[in-house]
Amino acid sequence: MSDLNDSPLRVAALVGSTRGGRFGPVVADWLLSQIAQRKDMEVDLVDLVETPLPTVMPAFGEQLPDEDMALLGAVAPRMESADAFIIITPEYNHSYPAALKNAIDWHNPQWHAKPVAFVSYGGISGGLRAVEHLRLVLAELNAMTIRNTVSFHNYGDKFDSDGKPLDPDCDVAAKALLDQLAWWGEALRDARTARPYTG
Ligand SMILES: Cc1cc2nc3c(=O)[nH]c(=O)nc-3n(C[C@H](O)[C@H](O)[C@H](O)COP(=O)(O)O)c2cc1C
Repeated sequence: MSDLNDSPLRVAALVGSTRGGRFGPVVADWLLSQIAQRKDMEVDLVDLVETPLPTVMPAFGEQLPDEDMALLGAVAPRMESADAFIIITPEYNHSYPAALKNAIDWHNPQWHAKPVAFVSYGGISGGLRAVEHLRLVLAELNAMTIRNTVSFHNYGDKFDSDGKPLDPDCDVAAKALLDQLAWWGEALRDARTARPYTG
């Protein structure tokens, strides 16, 4: 009998934009509809509008105020229990939003030895410059960023009024992305079980 874990991969999907009137939830809803078609993943949507994080960090060695502990406590356990991540990000000034950086920085071991996939959107660049910055940052956190991305260039023209991409190839690209995430997620989950990551 195999001791490999074949339960569904727990994927945390982070919505990187917190802007009023943001487009992020349209992209997130479509992505969730793609994940819902799979038996190998279950998803937890981490929306930083619904569960905001503190924006001021304490001095090293100091306790967080209770209200900030409560905010962190609403997110950190979900990051901890995730086997894999998907970051849904727009591009802000050739990078990614400050709220997303804040969410990344509040967590460290929660990222370790876990794969991260990206779905990005923006103008002509499709948010790919934001993704390239995220890859650098997440390497510091011992996360494994996967090669494929799904990116929506000039996203305003790419979705119908129901929030579905007009191009059916987007669903194909999402499947390829999720297949890669599943491979890495399962491989790293097994590896962490066999040998806890000490990085
Ligand atoms: C502060 C700010 C900076 C932006 N910078 C860029 C940029 O560098 N490249 C780009 O393609 N779009 C840029 N945009 C446009 C965003 O891609 C677009 O507004 C998108 O809707 C933002 O995602 P959101 O609606 O989910 O917040 C910027 C938008 C904002 C608010």
